[in-house]
Amino acid sequence: MSIDQEKLNQFMQKAVGDLGATFHAALVVIGDKLGLYRAMAEAGPVTSSELAKLAGASERYVREWLAANAASGYVNYDAAGRYSLSAEQSFALAEEGSPAFLPGAFQAAVAAIKAEPKIAEAFRTSCGVGWHEHDPGLFQGTERFFRPGYAANLITSWIPSLDGVEAKLREGARVADVGCGHGASTILMAQAYQRSTFTGFDYHEASIERARKAADEAGVTERVNFEVASAKNYPGRDYDFIAFFDCLHDMGDPVGAASYVRNTLAPDGALMIVEPYANDRVEENLNPVGRLFYSASTLVCTPASLSQEVGMALGAQAGEARMREVVTKGGFTRFRRAAETPFNLVFEAKP
Ligand SMILES: C[S@@+](CC[C@H](N)C(=O)[O-])C[C@H]1O[C@@H](n2cnc3c(N)ncnc32)[C@H](O)[C@@H]1O
Repeated sequence: MSIDQEKLNQFMQKAVGDLGATFHAALVVIGDKLGLYRAMAEAGPVTSSELAKLAGASERYVREWLAANAASGYVNYDAAGRYSLSAEQSFALAEEGSPAFLPGAFQAAVAAIKAEPKIAEAFRTSCGVGWHEHDPGLFQGTERFFRPGYAANLITSWIPSLDGVEAKLREGARVADVGCGHGASTILMAQAYQRSTFTGFDYHEASIERARKAADEAGVTERVNFEVASAKNYPGRDYDFIAFFDCLHDMGDPVGAASYVRNTLAPDGALMIVEPYANDRVEENLNPVGRLFYSASTLVCTPASLSQEVGMALGAQAGEARMREVVTKGGFTRFRRAAETPFNLVFEAKP
C-alpha cells in the first residue's frame, strides 16, 4: 500500500492532539482536586508562585501544570508571565454548579482508564467487568458529570415533556429512580416536587451509602429513601412514575428490567428512560459525542452489562429503535421520544 504523505500528516496531527488531550486529562483532575482552577478564578492573573501559594501546592509542579494548561487552551498566558482563566474557562473549569462544568467528566474518564488491564483481558475472555469493579473516581465523576445536565433539564424540560407526569408529581406521587447511583436525579426531583415520595434503587452498595449522605445534606430524608436493590427485584408496587437515568443500557437484562417495571407500575403510571444521545446507525454516530460515548461504553457500559445475567450489552449508543424494542418486549404498548439534548435522549413508555 502506498502512503499519501499529506493524509499521513493530517492523521498524525490529529493523533498528537488526541495524545496531548489524553495526558492532559489527569491534569484537569489534579487542577480540580487541588483547587487550582478555583484559586485562579478568584485571584485573576497569577504567576506560578502566586498560584502555588494560594493553593498550598509546590511551585515547580504548578509551573509545569500551568504551561501544559496554556498549551492545551485551558488557561491563558500573557507576555508578563501571568496565567489567567477567561470567563468561559472559569465557568467550565471552576464553577461546580455551572451547566458546563467539565472536571467531573474528566474525573470519570481518568478513573475508567484505570480499568484498561481488566478490560483488555475481558476482550479475550468475553467476561464482563461490573460497574462496582471500577475505581471509585468513576462513581463520583459520573455524578458530577451528569448532575449539571439533570439540573438544567430534568425539572424544566424533561418531566414537563411527559404526558401528565408533572401534574401528578405536584399533587403527590410515588416515584422510583432505578439505577440511581449517587442519587443526584432523585434529590433534584424531591426538591422540586414536595408532595411526592421517592425511592432510589441501585445494586451498588457504596453508591447507595453516598446517596443517603447526599439526601441528608440536602435535607430531604423525610421523603427520600435509598435502598440497595437490582432493577429486577426492588420492593414496592403501584409506582406512579419510574425513572432510569443513564443506566438501562448498563444492565445485563434491560428487557427483564422493563418487564419488572411494567409489573411494579400503577396501571396509569409512566416510565421515563434517559439515555445517552445516539442515532440508530453507527455511521450516524461517528462524531465527537458518539466518540465520547462509544469509548466510555467500551470501557464501562458494555463490560458492565456483560457482567450481569443475559448480558445483552446494548452499549451507550443503543439509540431509539433498540430502546423501543427492549421496552416493547418488556410489555409496554406505548413508547415515544419525549425530549432530547445534545447529550441525552428522553423516552416515555406507558403500559
Ligand atoms: C452510569 S451510572 C448512572 C447513575 C445515575 N443514574 C446517574 O445518572 O448519575 C449506572 C448505574 O446503574 C447501576 N446499575 C447497573 N446495573 C444495575 C442493575 N441491574 N440494577 C440496578 N442498578 C444497576 C450502577 O450501579 C450505576 O450506579
